[in-house]
Amino acid sequence: MTDQTITSVSRESRVFKPSAEFKAQANLGSEATYKRLYAESVNSPAKFWGRQATELLTWRKPFSKVLDWKAPHAKWFTGGTLNVAENCLDRHLGTARENKAAIIFEGEPGDITTLTYKQLHREVCKFANVLDSLDVGKGDRVAIYMPMVPEAAIAMLACARVGAIHTVIFGGFSSEAIKDRVNDCQAKLVITADGSWRRGKVVELKASVDRALEGTPSVQHVIVLKRTATEVSMTAPRDRWWHDVMTGAKAEHKAKAFGSEHPLFILYTSGSTGKPKGVLHTSGGYLLGTTITTKYIFDLKENDIYWCTADVGWITGHSYVVYGPLSCGATVMMYEGAPNHPAPDRFWDIIDRHGVTIFYTAPTAIRAFMRWGDDYVKKYSLKSLRLLGSVGEPINPEAWMWYHTLIGKKRCPIVDTWWQTETGAIMVSPLPGVTPTKPGSCTRPFFGVVPKILDDNGKEVPKGSGGRLFLMQPWPSMLRTLWGDDSRYKKQYWSEIKGVYFAGDGARFDKDGYLWVVGRIDDVLNVSGHRIGTAEVESALVSHPAVAEAAVVGRPDEIKGQGLVCFVTLKSDQKPTEELKQALRGHVAKEIGAIARPDEVRFAAGLPKTRSGKIMRRILKEIAAGGAIKGDTTTLEDFNVVASLQSEG
Ligand code: WT7
Repeated sequence: MTDQTITSVSRESRVFKPSAEFKAQANLGSEATYKRLYAESVNSPAKFWGRQATELLTWRKPFSKVLDWKAPHAKWFTGGTLNVAENCLDRHLGTARENKAAIIFEGEPGDITTLTYKQLHREVCKFANVLDSLDVGKGDRVAIYMPMVPEAAIAMLACARVGAIHTVIFGGFSSEAIKDRVNDCQAKLVITADGSWRRGKVVELKASVDRALEGTPSVQHVIVLKRTATEVSMTAPRDRWWHDVMTGAKAEHKAKAFGSEHPLFILYTSGSTGKPKGVLHTSGGYLLGTTITTKYIFDLKENDIYWCTADVGWITGHSYVVYGPLSCGATVMMYEGAPNHPAPDRFWDIIDRHGVTIFYTAPTAIRAFMRWGDDYVKKYSLKSLRLLGSVGEPINPEAWMWYHTLIGKKRCPIVDTWWQTETGAIMVSPLPGVTPTKPGSCTRPFFGVVPKILDDNGKEVPKGSGGRLFLMQPWPSMLRTLWGDDSRYKKQYWSEIKGVYFAGDGARFDKDGYLWVVGRIDDVLNVSGHRIGTAEVESALVSHPAVAEAAVVGRPDEIKGQGLVCFVTLKSDQKPTEELKQALRGHVAKEIGAIARPDEVRFAAGLPKTRSGKIMRRILKEIAAGGAIKGDTTTLEDFNVVASLQSEG
C-alpha cells in the first residue's frame, strides 16, 4: 500500500479581505448571515430550499414536497409546475426590467445588437411557435450547434418554453462529435448556422452538420441561421432558413407549465477520456441553483453589465450566460469571437466600451493574457469592473495575482468558483463582501453544499491532508442521471461510497477550513509513494518568470513508480536553452521540495487542449511515455500541436 493521502505542497499564505465599500453594498455582506443561512441549509434543507424556491422562482402550481431522495435519485419540488423560459423572460415584463437590455451582443466583426427583455421575449415566443409548427414539443430532443450569438440563447429558451430538451453541442466540435451526440439522444431537430466568425475566418458549421447527418436517422429538420453569409447546401424539405421560418411566426406564445422534474437539457461533458456522458438536468432545482448563486456569488445588481466569457456549448454558458442571469433579470454581455482578434486587447476593449461591471472567465484565458503581455491591458481603464470570477480549473496563485492587480486594480473581489457540469451550479466559492480570499483556493461551500475529503477507505482525512472530494448531501441543481445510462450514473458518481457523490477531484482543507482543489484525481501522481497533484507542480513552474504555461504528467518509472515530465511553453521573449531546463527543475525542487524535482522538462510551442481549454493530459502522457497517440483526438483544438510535440521529443 502506498501513502493514501495527497502530499499537498502549496505554500500560498496571502489573504485578501473584502473592502468595506464592497461589503456595504453586497447582496449578502455579513459573515453572521452566511453562517446562519449555511447552517440552516445543511441542517434543515427542506425548510431552506423550500423558502428560496418560493421567493426566487415563479411557480404555476406550488410544490408539495421539497425533496424526495432515494439515493442516488433525487426529485426536487415535486408537485410543483413551472416554465423555465417564463421565469427567465415573462416575469420581467410589466416591471422596470421590461425595457432593460437582456443581451448586449458583440460579433467578432464588430456588429453590436441589443435585445431588451421585451424584444428577447418576442423572439423566443416566435421561435417557440416555429417549434410547435414543426411538431417539436414536450420531451423531444433538439441539438443546437451554433455560434455564440443571441439566437443560440433564443433557441435554448424556446426549447424550454415548449418543453423540448436541448443539447447544445459546442461550435468547435467535429461532425463526428455531432453525430455521436445526436444519435445518443435521438434528436429530432438540429439548429445551426451557416458559419461563425473565429479570428477573422469562417468556421463552417452547416457543412459539419451536413457530414454528421449522413448517419443520424432521427433528425427530421434542420434550421439554419444566416450569420456569415457563407455558401451552404440546403436539402429540401429537411433544411429551413431561420429567417424564413421566423417570418410570419406569431409573437404571442402561451407557455405550458411543466413538472419541476421535467428534463431541461442534456449536456455531453467534454470527452478528454472515454465516451461522452450525457449529463441530464431538470427544471425547478436547476433554475433555483443557478438563480441563487448568480444573485449571491456574482452579487448581481439591477445596473450591472455582467459578462461571462464561456461559450453556451459548456455548462458555464448554460448556467451563467443564459439561465442564471436571465432568471435574475440581468444585462448579459455576449461576445462571439476570439479574445485576440483583431488584437490581444479585445476583451479589455469590450469591457471599457460597454462598461462591463462583472467579469467571469477561466484561468487558461488569464494565462494567455499574461503571456501576450501587460501592455495590451494597460491601454484601458477597466474602471467599470467591480467583481471578477474564475472557473474551470485551479487558478495558480501567479495568475490570481495578475488578475487581481492588472484587471481588478486590487479593487475587485475575485470569486474562484468550483463546480462541474454535473453540479449544474457553483458549489464552492467565496461570497464577495464576506469571505477573505486566498489566491488559489475556492474557499468555502455555498448553501446546501457539504464537501468532505475522504481517503480510499472512506475515512475523513485530517485538515491539511489531501484526499478525494465528496459531496455528502443532495442539492437542487444536481444532475439526475446520465441520459440513457443510469447504471453508469450510479457507478461513476455514487459507488465509491454508497449514496455520497464522488466529484472525481483531489483536494484538501487548510487549517482555516478553506478548500483547495488540486485537480482531477486521475491527475494525481504517485512519486516514490508521495501523491502529488500535477496542478501544484504546474503552478510552481508558472511562478518562474520565463514560463507562460505548463502541463505536468507522469511517466512510468522503475524506481519511483512515476516520474514527472513537464511540458513548458515560454513567454514570447524567452529562449529555450538547456540551462533554462535545469533552472526550471531546480526551481520546482525549491518551491515544492526535492520529491517533486521534474525528471524531464520539455519546451513546447503549444499544449494540446480541448476547445474548452482543458489540457488533454492523456495525449501528453502518451507522448511522455514515447508511445503512439491512441484513442479519440476529435476534441483537440489543434492537432499540429501534437505533431510538433512528438517531433521535438
Ligand atoms: C472540473 C469540472 C464548472 C464549469 C466548467 C468546467 C475543475 C472547475 C474549478 C475551480 C479548481 C476547478 C474541477 C472540476 N474545476 N472549476 N474553481 N478550481 N478546479 O466544467 O468540464 O465539468 O469540469 O473542472 O476539476 O471537477 P467541467
